[in-house]
Amino acid sequence: MISSFVDVSAGLRRCLPERLALALATLLPALAVAQIPPASVLRWAEVAPGVWKATIGQPESLTLLSAAGATVPARDALAAMPPAAFPLAPAEIEGRQWDAKTTVRFPLAADEDIYGLGVDFTNMRRNGAVFELHVDHWDSKKAITGRTHAPVPLYVSTKGFAVLFDAARYLRVSVGHGVRLAAKVKPPVIDRTTGKGWQADPRSDSIEVLAGATGMDVYVFAGPSPLDAVRRYNLFCGGGALPPKWGLGFLSRVQTKYTAEQALADIAEFRKNGIPLDMLGLEPGWMSQAYPCSFEWDRTRFPNPKTFLAEVEKQHVRVNLWFNPYVAPETPFYAKLLPFAGTHLVWNGIVPDYTMPAAQKILVDHLTHTVVDLDPAAVGGFKIDEVDGYDRYLWPDTAVFPSGRDAEQMRQTYGLLLQRAVLDAFRRGNRRTMGQVRGTNAGASRFPFVIYNDNYEFDGYITAVSNSGFAGVLWSPEVRGSDSGEDMLRRTQAVCFSPLALYNGWASPQKLWTHAEVTDDIRAAIVLRERLLPYFYNTFAQYHYQGTPVIRPMQLVSSLAGAGQQAAGKLDATANPYEVPAAVREVKDQYMFGDALLVAPIAPNVKTRKVLLPAGKWYDFYTGKFAGENQTIEVTPSLAAMPVFVKDGSLVPMLAEDRQWAPAANESVALEIRHYGEAPGKLALYDDDGETFDYEKGDFSWTQLTAAKNAAGKWSGTVTPDASGRQWHYSEVRWTFMPAQ
Ligand code: GAL
Repeated sequence: MISSFVDVSAGLRRCLPERLALALATLLPALAVAQIPPASVLRWAEVAPGVWKATIGQPESLTLLSAAGATVPARDALAAMPPAAFPLAPAEIEGRQWDAKTTVRFPLAADEDIYGLGVDFTNMRRNGAVFELHVDHWDSKKAITGRTHAPVPLYVSTKGFAVLFDAARYLRVSVGHGVRLAAKVKPPVIDRTTGKGWQADPRSDSIEVLAGATGMDVYVFAGPSPLDAVRRYNLFCGGGALPPKWGLGFLSRVQTKYTAEQALADIAEFRKNGIPLDMLGLEPGWMSQAYPCSFEWDRTRFPNPKTFLAEVEKQHVRVNLWFNPYVAPETPFYAKLLPFAGTHLVWNGIVPDYTMPAAQKILVDHLTHTVVDLDPAAVGGFKIDEVDGYDRYLWPDTAVFPSGRDAEQMRQTYGLLLQRAVLDAFRRGNRRTMGQVRGTNAGASRFPFVIYNDNYEFDGYITAVSNSGFAGVLWSPEVRGSDSGEDMLRRTQAVCFSPLALYNGWASPQKLWTHAEVTDDIRAAIVLRERLLPYFYNTFAQYHYQGTPVIRPMQLVSSLAGAGQQAAGKLDATANPYEVPAAVREVKDQYMFGDALLVAPIAPNVKTRKVLLPAGKWYDFYTGKFAGENQTIEVTPSLAAMPVFVKDGSLVPMLAEDRQWAPAANESVALEIRHYGEAPGKLALYDDDGETFDYEKGDFSWTQLTAAKNAAGKWSGTVTPDASGRQWHYSEVRWTFMPAQ
């Protein structure tokens, strides 16, 4: 043991004459080498198609995947992927275990780029960085540290695979940093005083991780492409989330102290202004006490919650209720939870040990019986706040919990445990939910929760959206009150092309119609969001059934991979077809939302921006006009619309008519299919009841849509219904071939 080496040396000095001690000490390096804990090659077992697991030492009983309940892989979907061999040389992957420390080393090739390792707001590529993956509120003033709302320890390699380190611990990860003595190829030794090319941080040939744990499970996800590897990860976690249809509409949160009357007036104002609304978020004031929380309606602001909810329901809106998990002494279930409390309070509330199923059941029972059951058609979800840290707003690292788990394990998993509890509460009533959460981790793919935070940097938010696609999570660049109409408009346009379209007015008296000069454009953005619901829903269905992330960062877009080599005529049988060209490595201000749409948000006060269009033809979403191909273009969009481009041959399913809220379960509406470009189009369009979990029992359909041009140059579309005849809520299909005539 390394620790015993230190002890021996100190002991010698204490009890032997100095000379003898010195002589013996010269022998110690040899002893020390002998005492380095041996590294062992990991033994891999294929645990699902294209997914391998290895275990080092004794993993702790609480892992990220177990906390998330991500224990039932979508095996059929994994089996439907192309067969894949183990993507690495097993002899190159080794682990070490000593005391309560576990390390793992993966090889890093000279031409390999690494992505993932959590939702970062500043960059995409991870090579050369050292992280401490740690659930925390993102600090925009600090350099990249790995402290973030979703520090998912999954890395994605441009060699076409992904690796997950499944330990509920703060993980230290070095990517290409720290050259090993045992490395077969080492950087050259150069004298700094006289030589050229000396490097302070010579590149290593490894990705190494350290966990303060007695062991760890490690997973490898095969490709063949990096996107396939992410798909396998999401499917291994049970498949991506499938929110209810209304969850993809618009959410607006009211000010903290709003009363029932004010909340209803807010809905009426939305309707009056013709701005679609599906969810109304109530902030801390819906509770009789917050920070810590009572989890009970406040009877001064909401004298009759049932009547209030009935009114909300009549307006085709669901409420989304804020909470943080710290339980106030006044809470009816406080006494029941007290035996499960950890050693420390947060805002004077207890911190229940939700790794214990009995504690989780108390919360789920309460949420189900006294909150959701009050009006299941009106209570649609929760916003789980303050589970991410800001070190000072959470339990300290000295805390311990009744299950024997410690502060660190709890911090890395608390958001996961609460998302699971809320999802369970809705599952009991066979109703889906759409929620928000401020801290999460690996295993979260199937949770219909979207992350948010208190920062507000536009560019950072868009990079977070991009990075979410590498992490099996969802991020929303929410809109808040604003000093200028342009700021509110540009942010609204961006949020409408993100996983959750959200105005967070908790701290502002402003409304989306405060800046009259932009109200028409804000309305247009949200109406478009609502009309694109079939497209967004289909994208989520792909996430659920095929594991394909909703948001695809440009580095995952296959027509970009290898493009640099292709252009240089270099791609041969030995070249890596997934190598990301240098120009794309750091693209962080645009992303694909689904198969068809390339979204290039434009920041407030920015007039012109560059957009990278991958290989293949791209068309302007609004006009259908050709925009470019395999090139970087510069756009100067009007205030009225944000740049969005469509891939050649895409079919974009939309609601044919403008709406103020999403279609209800089983409501049939007219569908418009837009075809873009010159290539023929093909799309499998998913549908189900949009509200329950019956799809898990097979109650869904995939309808095949195709568009083709005949010899006379005339386009037409065909619809081939699903043979099962189940769940199809479109009364008619109208085709538009862009540019529309
Ligand atoms: C913050 C949260 C805000 C808002 C506020 C209410 O922690 O990030 O979005 O909900 O609490 O007090």
